[in-house]
Amino acid sequence: MAVHHDPAGGQEYDATPYLPDRGGLPAHRKASAGCEGCPLYADATQTVFGSGEASARLVLVGEQPGDQEDRQGEPFVGPAGGVLRRALEEAELDIGETYLTNAVRHFKFTSAGPGKRRIHKPPTLREMSACRPWLTAELRLVGPDVVVALGATAAKALFGPSFRVTKDRGALFSPGEWGDGGGGKARALATIHPSAVLRSDEREAAYAGLVSDLRVAAAALP
Ligand code: URA
Repeated sequence: MAVHHDPAGGQEYDATPYLPDRGGLPAHRKASAGCEGCPLYADATQTVFGSGEASARLVLVGEQPGDQEDRQGEPFVGPAGGVLRRALEEAELDIGETYLTNAVRHFKFTSAGPGKRRIHKPPTLREMSACRPWLTAELRLVGPDVVVALGATAAKALFGPSFRVTKDRGALFSPGEWGDGGGGKARALATIHPSAVLRSDEREAAYAGLVSDLRVAAAALP
């Protein structure tokens, strides 16, 4: 199925035509493998769908797959995933009962240097909104109690483009306040992205902040 065009002549990116009409997470995962709703599919190795059980009470939303995730086809299996797993454990959240996903499902990158190292590029708002139907479907199918946005991209995807993680991180929003992405009853909060911990000059403080925000999520679980 091709990306469709809008009457103004620009390209309208949208994953909607690729979503299955029915079925649970496995049907959606399978269909997402063929998504060409925006141009990012062309250079990525594969679609990286969410991972975890439909019974998960907590959904964590990242930005997009990184280099390792793109190769392995699973979210948060690279260095940022390592930080996240440690922080979840420290916040006494069970990774086995957590659903991990991303705002965007294809790795966006530029290649640089002699070894053509793949450098992450942030997705645009158009790419994020094209990919939004997959996230909405996951939130509807999982129906979590709490959703955590990891970093600015996920926070904008969930709370709108004017949301500022620096200002509002750690604050718990009721379903009505954030417009729930399909889960119906979920409360939501934003925190920093685990890769921001790795980039920080004050790693320990950044990591402690991440853990502290995840503790807010843990306390909000029934
Ligand atoms: N960063 C993300 O936001 N998501 C991943 O899956 C991996 C790294």
